Amino acid sequence: MNKLSVAIIAILLAIIAAMGWFFFLRGSVTPADDGRTAILLKPSDRNVLLTEMRGFLEAIQAIIAATEEGDMKTVRETAKKVGTVNMAEIPPSLMRALPAEFRSMGFDTHAQFRKLAEDVAAGKGRDHIYKALAEVMNNCVTCHAGYRADPDTGQ
Ligand code: HEC
Repeated sequence: MNKLSVAIIAILLAIIAAMGWFFFLRGSVTPADDGRTAILLKPSDRNVLLTEMRGFLEAIQAIIAATEEGDMKTVRETAKKVGTVNMAEIPPSLMRALPAEFRSMGFDTHAQFRKLAEDVAAGKGRDHIYKALAEVMNNCVTCHAGYRADPDTGQ
């Protein structure tokens, strides 16, 4: 290979890496006026994200209520349900718009609920459940402090 083709390959690889960063790792984002990062989403994708979010909130309420009643079956089932991600239900356009850090925090949140379901199935009780909720809710707090979801106006 001569020097010119090595240089061309290096430039092409750099372009591919930059495109990968831009389209996949960076996501579709812009700085927001409140200091957070705004993720720009088309309305249907924003609905999917916010529906998932309300699912998190409902699950936390249901888990606390069931824990107080000693209903470990409901705790387990609720945590398992919200811990399971059905990739087929996540539109590819939404996945592309989310920055890598956001995606991994989202997956970690689901994973923590899954772990809670397993722990409760293994006999862990009230104290553990509250500790696990406090832990998973760090993710809610951290992500909301850093990101918001704005409509993609196509600009
Ligand atoms: C990876 C990031 C991330 C994580 C983790 C996360 N959220 Fe969110 N959530 C968001 C974003 C972004 C919004 C939109 C907020 C905005 O536009 O101001 C949102 C919005 C919401 C809303 C409002 C929904 C609506 O219909 O308007 C609720 C409720 C919510 N989140 C609950 C939770 C709870 C509970 C958790 C933790 C179990 C959680 N979220 C974890 C990113 C996250």
